[in-house]
Amino acid sequence: SATILAASMFSAASAAELTVGFSQIGSESGWRAAETTLTKQQAEQRGIDLKFADAQQKQENQIKALRSFIAQGVDAILVAPVVATGWDEVLQEAKDAEIPVILLDRTVDAPDNLYLTAVTSDLVHEGNVAGKWLVDTVAGKPCNVVELQGTTGSSPAIDRKKGFEEALAGHDNLKIVRSQTGDFTRTKGKEVMESFLKAEDGGKNICALYAHNDDMAVGAIQAIKEAGLKPGTDILVVSIDAVPDIFQAMAAGEANATVELTPNMAGPAFDALDAFRKDGKAPPKWIQTESKLYTQADDPAKVYEEKKGLGY
Ligand code: AHR
Repeated sequence: SATILAASMFSAASAAELTVGFSQIGSESGWRAAETTLTKQQAEQRGIDLKFADAQQKQENQIKALRSFIAQGVDAILVAPVVATGWDEVLQEAKDAEIPVILLDRTVDAPDNLYLTAVTSDLVHEGNVAGKWLVDTVAGKPCNVVELQGTTGSSPAIDRKKGFEEALAGHDNLKIVRSQTGDFTRTKGKEVMESFLKAEDGGKNICALYAHNDDMAVGAIQAIKEAGLKPGTDILVVSIDAVPDIFQAMAAGEANATVELTPNMAGPAFDALDAFRKDGKAPPKWIQTESKLYTQADDPAKVYEEKKGLGY
């Protein structure tokens, strides 16, 4: 059933007695590191025994971790799925073992009765917000855009691309001239941006960069500077996450806009799990987090100070 489990299947265990397995993707970005920190903090505050497994970017490691959590008989599983496909079998195994699974920050291409809920942002919307910002900012001027995509096959890479393209549709002045994965990392973002700059007349043909996360943008900003151009002015920079480092870049005038993704996915996930265990009431299949746009108008230096303490 869609509910997966009834509360009656559980003895009235309090959060203090809960054991939860968490399969994390790795530590590719500042945002990811903050999500890990906050998940551990949230678990500790609630007295949850969190079993943490770092998959080092590999789905096979995540599947192994899930199987190990199932074998240990954990009370619930959190998983941030590195890619969208290939989850049906292991999710079915968790369901058969009556262990609720909650997806964190990324979605999967699997029937939704195989997991309890997904705590994610609207990933298409994020791309759309970034795209609309660019459309408005260039205000009809011709603009060649380069795009740094996230990890190939991951839901944020697929959806943020889609949402951005939707925003640009019908605005023929904007053209995506190059698009490649930078794997959500700073190093790869810099490397790929270097190749974009080389291919586009040292960057003279590029008007804007859209990066699927801030870390790739920060790497690319470095590449733009090394190419002798001014990021934020010669090449507009818009990205996603709202990590402290991008606000530092924005405060220096080297980045223009970012769309916020909260790293606190675990808070709502544990709340949903708690309610489910208490009342047996299945949460909605999607618990949506906010996507707020930040621009130069938002006092980036101040936001930087505010953000620093929040898991980063
Ligand atoms: O799934 C969320 C994305 O994964 C974040 O935007 C990115 O920084 C992370 O690596």
